[in-house]
Amino acid sequence: MTHFVVEGLKATIEGKEILKGIDLEIKGGEIHAIMGPNGTGKSTLASALMGHPKYEVTDGAVSLNGEDVLEMAVDERARAGLFLAMQYPSEIAGVTNSDFMRSAINARREEGNEISLIKFIRQMEGKMKELEMDPEFAHRYLNEGFSGGEKKRNEILQMMMIEPKLVILDEIDSGLDIDALRIVANGVNSMRDEDRGFLIITHYQRLLNYIKPDVVHVMMQGRIVKSGGPELAERLERDGYDWVKEELGITDESVGQEA
Ligand SMILES: Nc1ncnc2c1ncn2[C@@H]1O[C@H](COP(=O)(O)OP(=O)(O)OP(=O)(O)O)[C@@H](O)[C@H]1O
Ligand SMILES: [Mg+2]
Repeated sequence: MTHFVVEGLKATIEGKEILKGIDLEIKGGEIHAIMGPNGTGKSTLASALMGHPKYEVTDGAVSLNGEDVLEMAVDERARAGLFLAMQYPSEIAGVTNSDFMRSAINARREEGNEISLIKFIRQMEGKMKELEMDPEFAHRYLNEGFSGGEKKRNEILQMMMIEPKLVILDEIDSGLDIDALRIVANGVNSMRDEDRGFLIITHYQRLLNYIKPDVVHVMMQGRIVKSGGPELAERLERDGYDWVKEELGITDESVGQEA
């Protein structure tokens, strides 16, 4: 059973502390959403959890099913079941989408137990159909020339192919048209499973109409300052963040100034 625990996580970028002590616990079957003003460290949290070398973790602990995540290299984290759909997915020229996904899947398998080409193609075609993607995207270079929305849809395709245990989606809804939002949400919902946890970073409550979260967290100044149910996201959409700041005595000068 998936159990993901983040305790007192602190991280710096070029010597500047961005994450100032993050606590999170996500169990299999749960969907957690994080909302928060620009520049408060949401993407930093996602990248630090994935092990991006730009971020230095200075304190705290992260574990997935009892295993120490911070000890692992990026590829080991992926193999352990962590997955991040990035806010700004990278383009890789010269590597086709399907080659990229097949190696990502095989990297998570034991040697000699690689997915057969036929099975892989069949699976990929099926998932692409579910996501209403043109089959030609399998053969294009990874994200190269993809529109913003196409990149997002492709991130979800990767998630569906890779079947991770702990999925982090960073603004998966940004840039999606109305139909694509529903298609991507359906893709995420089809992956809901007792043994899979989700951490969904979003600015808009609208996404959470489609993907119902169990817990909503508010992040400010590198900390999770408030947690609640879906009604918290509704209140934020309606009233913005000022009331949270007032409630917690956070001054404007110190919030989002890094944005
Ligand atoms: N390489 C870097 N050098 C200096 N500061 C950085 C660097 N990368 C990120 N930051 C800063 O870290 C802070 C947190 O950025 P992050 O991308 O995590 O914010 P966010 O909460 O995801 O914002 P958004 O909602 O706009 O996506 C920002 O102030 C950003 O400018
Ligand atoms: Mg971000």
